[in-house]
Amino acid sequence: MALQLPQVIGHRGAALAAPENTLEGFREAARQGAKWVEFDVGLSADGQCFVLHDDTLDRTTSGKGPAHLKSIAELKSLDAGFWFGKSFEGARLPTLAETIACLTELDLMANVEIKAAPEKRHAELAKAVMTELRKLWPAAKPKPLISSFELECLRTAHAEAPEFPRGYLIWGREVDWLAKARSVAAATMNIDTDHATQGWMTELKQAGYGVLVWTVNAPERAARLIEWGADGVFTDAPGAVLARLAKGV
Ligand code: G3P
Ligand code: MG
Repeated sequence: MALQLPQVIGHRGAALAAPENTLEGFREAARQGAKWVEFDVGLSADGQCFVLHDDTLDRTTSGKGPAHLKSIAELKSLDAGFWFGKSFEGARLPTLAETIACLTELDLMANVEIKAAPEKRHAELAKAVMTELRKLWPAAKPKPLISSFELECLRTAHAEAPEFPRGYLIWGREVDWLAKARSVAAATMNIDTDHATQGWMTELKQAGYGVLVWTVNAPERAARLIEWGADGVFTDAPGAVLARLAKGV
């Protein structure tokens, strides 16, 4: 099934309305009308894939220190909701498997971001992610987009499971971006909004890439980026951006 990119991807779920990278956040994104969500994946000390943005637990959970040094059981025992608001107390840090099950129930598509693994476990992490996706992602659904800032993660994803499309995450317009994107057979370039100019957008589109821009919370900025040729944006406020885009660009 060919990759069909959406105009709006809920960033870490719907991070302005619910704790990021939790099942509660994915449910909130679906409630706001998003058809896709983005989330970040790391690897526990015992080799299990979990969903969390930061390297450390302190900002978004009741835990402390580097997440990759904890077992999956330790990670699952943490509260990942109270920091955001009392009504989210008890939300758990999800595993990749739990996240896939939740997205299947909600009929949500996904951009799975493989986070830079501490201690250079990039290949191990990417292998684990692709093995789980191959096993658990429903065959009837289009494949999710796999993205990373780390070329080694994308190289491994390509080698392990080439049928999953890849997005190269980039901060700024690196001079050798095209060679790097080609080296992992990327389908999309996932660029940051601060460096997203009309000129670069045109260059990316002419080179044949899907273009997704992060993180765009202002609806007018989202409309402008789409007007310039972006296929879609990652946003913490999917409902507001969807409402703006429904009016046309
Ligand atoms: O994938 C888009 C965006 O999530 C990349 O940055 O730091 O939010 O994971 P970050
Ligand atoms: Mg991310």
